[in-house]
Amino acid sequence: MPEYVHVASTSDVQDPGKLLVEVDAEMIALFHVGGSFYAIDDVCTHDGGPLVDGELQDYTIACPRHGAKFDIRTGAALSMPAIRPTLSHDVKVDSGSVFVRLREAGSGPSGNPAPSAGPRASTASVFPTETTDKQETLASTDASTDASTDASTDGNTAIESLTSATLSEDIVRELLKQVKDPELFVNIIDLGLIYDVSLSPAPENSKQHVSIDMTMTSPACPAGPQLIADTKRAVNTHESVEDVEVRIVMEPPWTPDRMTDDGRDQLGIF
Ligand code: FES
Repeated sequence: MPEYVHVASTSDVQDPGKLLVEVDAEMIALFHVGGSFYAIDDVCTHDGGPLVDGELQDYTIACPRHGAKFDIRTGAALSMPAIRPTLSHDVKVDSGSVFVRLREAGSGPSGNPAPSAGPRASTASVFPTETTDKQETLASTDASTDASTDASTDGNTAIESLTSATLSEDIVRELLKQVKDPELFVNIIDLGLIYDVSLSPAPENSKQHVSIDMTMTSPACPAGPQLIADTKRAVNTHESVEDVEVRIVMEPPWTPDRMTDDGRDQLGIF
């Protein structure tokens, strides 16, 4: 098991406050709140944002990139777009010094245990910082897509009626509700990922070209290629679609404010 490593003096971090430290080559966000110290990985589990640069409010730190919040006492993810906890670590205070012991994932929540084992020579570094402050669920009629075993007959009937209705922006948006983020299990309309839908007549026949401006919850969203493919597949099921163009736009950046009330309900955000 790793040993406790000296990372700071208690006076180095005001209460409330935070400090970026390095412990055994890991970047750790150290917090001082309510007279106790806490340590979590300085990594937002949404897309790697530096948590220590975020706003600290009580026992909550907000990622400065897209606003996910974490409990500094446990590392628990408290709000979108993060859904996984960041790792928390053991902290102890002894004779005015703060020590951190790295934990491994799955080893349980950390606290501020009483001092016990003597500290080893420090290998910690301190960095200046402010102190205040898709499993695919597309129910497509595309024969190449595996149908979900629990897809209801009613659901398929509804999709069939959509794919034969007069094509419009609203119909495209309804079709896109079949495309779900593989991590959040919320469709891309309710997530607020679709910025614009436009239709233009195909000169070669009576069908339509569909152009979609779509964003991602982060520039490096690993689900991006799958979401684009699913978006095209869902819209292409309509009989009047000639082709589908998906443009990824990152401006304005996505924020949780873009979600619909239904999306918020599904994620338990109020
Ligand atoms: S990187 Fe932290 S919320 Fe996106």
